[in-house]
Amino acid sequence: MISPGQSQVEEYFEPSPYLEQQLRERKREDLLKKIYPFHKHANVVAVKQAEPLGLAHALLMAEEQVKNEPFVVLLGDDLFFGSPSPSKQLIEAFKTSKKSIIALKEVSKEEVVHYGIVDIIKSNNLIHQIKNIVEKPKESEAPTTLAIPGRYIFTPDIFAYIKRLKEKRNAEYPLTDALLQMAKDSNLFAVEVSATRFDVGQVPGYLQATLSLARERRLFPKNV
Ligand code: G1P
Repeated sequence: MISPGQSQVEEYFEPSPYLEQQLRERKREDLLKKIYPFHKHANVVAVKQAEPLGLAHALLMAEEQVKNEPFVVLLGDDLFFGSPSPSKQLIEAFKTSKKSIIALKEVSKEEVVHYGIVDIIKSNNLIHQIKNIVEKPKESEAPTTLAIPGRYIFTPDIFAYIKRLKEKRNAEYPLTDALLQMAKDSNLFAVEVSATRFDVGQVPGYLQATLSLARERRLFPKNV
């Protein structure tokens, strides 16, 4: 899903004959191998969300592409490092639940204002029921510190729930309201995920992610 003016994102996934030719001429087979990490595995399609009406509306734009099958949603400003990936954990849980599932990750009390915050009934099989979801609550009003970190698996019934949303809030259709209704109908569950998360939509998270990757890839001199 892209917004108008983000065609570079689309182009990133397209073959680049010019770059290939340049690398071949320079005999950089090593880089040539690296430039198309996805092309063999996936058919990448970009759908444009013409108006910024929020996440629920963005999902509706993708309804045709989803072709009535379960699908994973990954929000690009939430980065995860480490194994297993949240998507893998969600897919494993989905094999049991066969219902839509959202990821959960602990955040600090000060951070609850940035996320959907979830109250759950813990289950031994790690697939938890959802009691409540509050979108970006004040610190004093947050039921827990369990946040939705931008990873979801949805079954196609999500679209019917979204279409029932009547009113915009802060100029956006609130996905949280649709999720809460799904949870009430026992059509939505939650799983805590273990990989390390960085919110690169916030400056501190962006800096932390950059430093963490640089350290992991040993990009700093030894004494830094
Ligand atoms: C969206 C969701 C929120 C979720 C967050 C994760 O908010 O509405 O529930 O916790 O993504 O990043 P946004 O970041 O689009 O404001």
